[in-house]
Amino acid sequence: MPTILVTGGAGFIGSNFIRYWRREHPSWEIIAYDKLTYAGNKSNLHDLEGQPNFTFVQGDICNREELEPWLAKSDIVVNFAAETHVDRSLLSSGDFVRTDVLGVHTIMECAREHRTGLIVHISTDEVYGPILDGSADEDEPLNPSSPYAASKAGGDLLALAYAKSFRVPVIITRCCNNFGPYQHPEKLIPLMITNALLDLPLPVYGDGRQVREWIFVEDHCRALDFLIEHGTPGGVYNIGTGCERQNIEVVQMILQLLGKPESLIRFVADRPAHDRRYSVNWEKLRKLGWQPKHDFESALAQTVAWYRENEWWWRQIRESEEFKRYYEANYAWRLRNESA
Ligand code: NAD
Ligand code: TYD
Repeated sequence: MPTILVTGGAGFIGSNFIRYWRREHPSWEIIAYDKLTYAGNKSNLHDLEGQPNFTFVQGDICNREELEPWLAKSDIVVNFAAETHVDRSLLSSGDFVRTDVLGVHTIMECAREHRTGLIVHISTDEVYGPILDGSADEDEPLNPSSPYAASKAGGDLLALAYAKSFRVPVIITRCCNNFGPYQHPEKLIPLMITNALLDLPLPVYGDGRQVREWIFVEDHCRALDFLIEHGTPGGVYNIGTGCERQNIEVVQMILQLLGKPESLIRFVADRPAHDRRYSVNWEKLRKLGWQPKHDFESALAQTVAWYRENEWWWRQIRESEEFKRYYEANYAWRLRNESA
């Protein structure tokens, strides 16, 4: 039975990918390998627990002894494991360098030794930095702004170097902003949905005119499946949709979907080095034959409905001491209208 190892499988995109893979490739064995940091949540995989040919392993991608046996027995590895939140990387960045750079190095070293099958390394469009005009293609120089983006750029370039130097069969993907079920309430869309449901203020950074390109998480999963079949090892692939929205537009749409007033919006102190716009050129992927299926408006409505119906899921996170500490550190002074 072929085996796929999904590192970071208890996070937002990883858990959606596992659910997608189970549905589309039911004959595969799936191993979810995750450290269960504050962002990893076993309840993201609640419906897979106890299913045949599904194994959950609590482990760190930086720990070679822990990781190696699982990687050695897998036919495909998809690496989602990372520290992922820009605002947290501005508060403290050690774990970002550790996991997003050294963790990738550990995976690459294991892959080099064991001559594994395909490795898909999930990078991000944030490695290109702000794109004020046009769209970044895969040859655009990397110009990260935050410690998160810089750490991801380090992992991305290391993976590429292992493909060039040691022929490790790795594909690197750089996707735009994802949204959908099981996204941690620290990120823009779930934070705004859950704050609105709780009748709390919605903190919009700066003037709210920053632009992000959005993809529904299921389309991202489909793109990864497509690249597993059609991508070339050693290749870098942008994954995008062309669906660009200003943050303020997204926040207004969420309020409208929930029937909540715009008076909940608060413009607060901006993020330092806040990237004005991200936009990827994904012609390379389109030419291979992939395109997104979901449009932003209906996928956002579906996402809002999911958060409304799954309060049990987000309440356990929002009520944790860890989340309260983070919220206090990142938002309390902003909502008091103070500067950093
Ligand atoms: P997430 O924060 O929801 O999940 C990350 C997962 O990695 C968590 O389950 C966490 O426990 C796990 N993890 C962290 N450190 C680990 C370690 N040392 N060893 C093992 N597991 C560890 O993030 P996400 O939004 O699902 O993002 C997944 C990947 O996709 C990341 O690499 C991210 O950079 C990339 N990405 C995300 C987006 C987005 O919009 N969310 C866009 C493009 C790329
Ligand atoms: P985020 O979801 O953190 O993703 P990224 O910074 O990785 O793109 O934020 C998306 C956008 O929303 C970004 O421009 C920052 C902005 N934002 C706010 O205005 N307020 C918030 O409370 C958050 C979390 C994000």
